Amino acid sequence: MFDEVADRYDITNDVLSLGQTRRWRRKLVAALAVRPGERVLDLAAGTGSSTEPFHDAGAEAVACDFSLGMLQVGKRRRPDMSFIAGDAMNLPFADDTFDAVTISFGLRNIVDPLAGLREMLRVTRPGGRLAVMEFSDPTNKVFNTVYNEYLMRALPPTARAVSSNPEAYVYLAESIRAWPDQDHLAAEISAAGYAAVKYRNLSGGIVAIHHATKPGDLLAS
Ligand SMILES: C[S@@+](CC[C@H](N)C(=O)[O-])C[C@H]1O[C@@H](n2cnc3c(N)ncnc32)[C@H](O)[C@@H]1O
Repeated sequence: MFDEVADRYDITNDVLSLGQTRRWRRKLVAALAVRPGERVLDLAAGTGSSTEPFHDAGAEAVACDFSLGMLQVGKRRRPDMSFIAGDAMNLPFADDTFDAVTISFGLRNIVDPLAGLREMLRVTRPGGRLAVMEFSDPTNKVFNTVYNEYLMRALPPTARAVSSNPEAYVYLAESIRAWPDQDHLAAEISAAGYAAVKYRNLSGGIVAIHHATKPGDLLAS
């Protein structure tokens, strides 16, 4: 599915999120507090748009995804960045490799998110950080109703106008509705073995950033 939407993926994102995606990505970089030279894995990185702000902040950022179509579009656009093909459920990296691991709008797409979180934990060094950016539940009840109307009614026709594969965006709307809310995702991250799990809402809870650390060297976290 992602191979098929790769060419128009980023423009469709900007249109459907009403331009919010770029702002959310800047908040994620701030949340992970990446220092220059740190090794950062951006998993389910797609075309690398979620990796770019980490690379541009001076991190040694690796964009990893299993869709070769998405990776090819990314490499064409940013040949200076590192793109690696890999499955989130069986990552091609040794234990304790990265200072920080992040995943934007990708955990929801992994067949077994808990297995994905455990793999992310494995490749993070003790004391290293995790930041997950994912669609979540708007906290205001009235807004939540309006938002769900947007997802189920306005999003698919808008996607039909701009995307190369509108059906993928029906899947998008349905997968957002089926995804756990902020507290349930926090519990899942803890269940995978992370410590100090916290989250913050963006745009009233349309998106949430969950932050956690890998237990181990507390001084380095
Ligand atoms: C919605 S896109 C997000 C791309 C990018 N992180 C962003 O923020 O624009 C989700 C990505 O998850 C990838 N994906 C889904 N399951 C995966 C898996 N098991 N291993 C690696 N990538 C996966 C898809 O190929 C797709 O590129």
